[in-house]
Amino acid sequence: DKGNHRHFMEKEIHEQPEVISHTLANYLDFAEGGVRAFEMPFDFGKIDRLAVSACGTAYLAGLIGKYWLERYARLPVDIDIASEFRYREMPLSKSSAALFVSQSGETADTLASLRYCRAQGVPIASIVNVRDSTIARESDGIFPTLAGPEIGVASTKAFTCQLAIFAALAARAGLQRGTLSDEEARRMVRALSEAPRYAAQALRLEGHIEKIARELSQVRHVLYLGRDTSYPLAMEGALKLKEISYIHAEGYAAGELKHGPIALIDESMPVIVIAPTDRIFEKTVSNMQEVAARGGRIILITDEAGAARASLDKFETIVMPTMPEFIAPIVYALPVQMLAYHTAVAMGTDVDQPRNLAKSVTVE
Ligand code: M6R
Repeated sequence: DKGNHRHFMEKEIHEQPEVISHTLANYLDFAEGGVRAFEMPFDFGKIDRLAVSACGTAYLAGLIGKYWLERYARLPVDIDIASEFRYREMPLSKSSAALFVSQSGETADTLASLRYCRAQGVPIASIVNVRDSTIARESDGIFPTLAGPEIGVASTKAFTCQLAIFAALAARAGLQRGTLSDEEARRMVRALSEAPRYAAQALRLEGHIEKIARELSQVRHVLYLGRDTSYPLAMEGALKLKEISYIHAEGYAAGELKHGPIALIDESMPVIVIAPTDRIFEKTVSNMQEVAARGGRIILITDEAGAARASLDKFETIVMPTMPEFIAPIVYALPVQMLAYHTAVAMGTDVDQPRNLAKSVTVE
């Protein structure tokens, strides 16, 4: 049931404040400000490597998870697209563990990767939305996302719930590995407890985003840029646009621009830049100036301080609430999803059932 929404995707975008909060509460104790002692098939303190593998949007959640686990828990993470992982014969030592990410729990390549790891004898955990799924059943332990059924082919709420779990795992891993003090972990938990509220604020930007999307629906190509955790999010934005609006979009690390893609920039190619004010904000701004100098049209997603520092009269800006850097990828996912959604609606495509795609890809 879509309720009073036009599409399941719209409904699922709007459910995010609630389902993120619900998911987080399973892993974090907001009253105590700590991380819960949830069951795990391995101890973060006893492994020296984690292999993560998934497909599509779930893979991009894993990529953001890698940034967090490496930064906060100093745990080296190998992340692969499952269709590559299953054939690439990665050596796994006894001191590593494997983590799979899948909304449906039925994705063929992800399942095949899991079985490869099973044969290697490492402990296996999965982040799944469907608890009664093959991937869930074949794992040693699961971290359920509590997103509820996701009907739209484009993954939205499952993605932000996967991110919520990775964030909680980073805090847990940091404590177990002794790289985070109790106070630092508490600060992360506090920041996460605010994510649903910021997500609700982001939803209020929908009217403005819809206007920008109407313009986007007129173009053939879009470039999405970001650095650090905004880089996987840029790829997610591009994936969402391709998938439901059929506009050719690419997500790039902003620093890679000058190694090739800058040659594409002209007046007809909008460049969407995701840049919350964080430690590398200035670097992204300088990439943006390179785009502007070549006549590129920029749509900047940032916060108030970012908008002021980038001095942006000529550009389009989506001004997000100011929030702790750690949780930005969870909250910035919403404008990215809304941009794709409203572009697709403006183009009149079948948003919930885009052509050539299936919700769960159970064949290779
Ligand atoms: O069910 P899964 O999470 O394993 O699915 C993985 C991908 O097929 C999925 O995320 C796909 O990329 C989405 N349609 C993207 O919106």
